[in-house]
Amino acid sequence: MYSFKMLGFGLAKGRLTVTNEDISKLVDTSDEWITSRTGIKSRYISRQENTSDLGLAAAKMAIEDAGIDQREIGLIIVATMTPDNFTPSTACLIQQKLGLSDCEVTAFDLNAACSGFIYALKTALALLPEHKKALVIGAETLSKLIDWTDRSTCILFGDGAGAVVLDREKGSCADFYTRSCGDEKQVLTAGGIIMNPLSNPPKDYSYLKMDGQEVFRFAVNAIADAAMKVLDKNNLSVEDVDLIIPHQANIRIISAAARRLGVPESKFFTNLQNYGNTSAASVAIALAQCRQEGRLKKGMKILLVGFGAGLTYGAAYINL
Ligand SMILES: CC(C)(COP(=O)(O)OP(=O)(O)OC[C@H]1O[C@@H](n2cnc3c(N)ncnc32)[C@H](O)[C@@H]1OP(=O)(O)O)[C@@H](O)C(=O)NCCC(=O)NCCS
Repeated sequence: MYSFKMLGFGLAKGRLTVTNEDISKLVDTSDEWITSRTGIKSRYISRQENTSDLGLAAAKMAIEDAGIDQREIGLIIVATMTPDNFTPSTACLIQQKLGLSDCEVTAFDLNAACSGFIYALKTALALLPEHKKALVIGAETLSKLIDWTDRSTCILFGDGAGAVVLDREKGSCADFYTRSCGDEKQVLTAGGIIMNPLSNPPKDYSYLKMDGQEVFRFAVNAIADAAMKVLDKNNLSVEDVDLIIPHQANIRIISAAARRLGVPESKFFTNLQNYGNTSAASVAIALAQCRQEGRLKKGMKILLVGFGAGLTYGAAYINL
């Protein structure tokens, strides 16, 4: 169990709103199909903004919300599977854009795909005693990994970022259950790298590819398993939880997980209708939106639950 304070929250989204009708002009699909199979109505897509720009905007909002001097931040972790570059890390870019290059900051990226923000939160809390204040960001520009002619994937994803400022002082506590399962079947992959560029001329990195039905089955099990494991560890039942903030992938995944857990769907926060799936940014954006809407109250018990490529999954239990 980790003790800490959540001081501030922020979010950012791609500049362009892309509706289901807009996508139906690109590929053979319809608003009716996308809405009934996923719950998604529109998503935000970047125009010029890269992952670090979205992460920076969310970070600035979180720092302002926290009311701190940003020079107190000693740790920056960015969860992303769509960094600006292989190196430098998006976290180092954001450090520089925040004007913290001369500060004693440890900054790095972490890739656990759509579970990334929960992995990053766990990592940050483990490291926080050394650093006083931490900035944890989930940021993605999934649109650059999408084949916009593939109707089975291009309908699902969006671009955005969410951020939280943590303080090592006591106030809230959190516990985690995280798990990775090396994926033999490769049900969700993106950006494969050519291994031998001297004999095989480098090609473009491959677009995101997915076996939707396999991922769907995995996701429902993952939400239920992670939620129950972290609650069991803390002698709690799902009835004790006030709010569940799940990865925003598909409303049917959330409905099936709610049935599996035996809780009403109303316990789950959703914003996927407007955001689509923003991967590592999804839970972070949802958390910041809950804060903006006044849904996070001192003493509440909340669960964050994520799942994604790797395959990875995990849950964070937070007593606010
Ligand atoms: C992708 C997903 C929405 C597809 O829904 P589904 O009910 O499984 O649909 P299927 O893949 O079985 O396809 C059903 C039919 O719709 C078609 N179809 C696929 N995408 C379509 C689209 N955008 N518009 C219209 N038809 C489409 C298929 O070609 C198929 O046609 P067929 O029956 O003639 O072969 C669903 O599987 C899903 O959400 N999976 C999880 C994905 C996810 O969350 N990934 C990220 C995890 S982090």
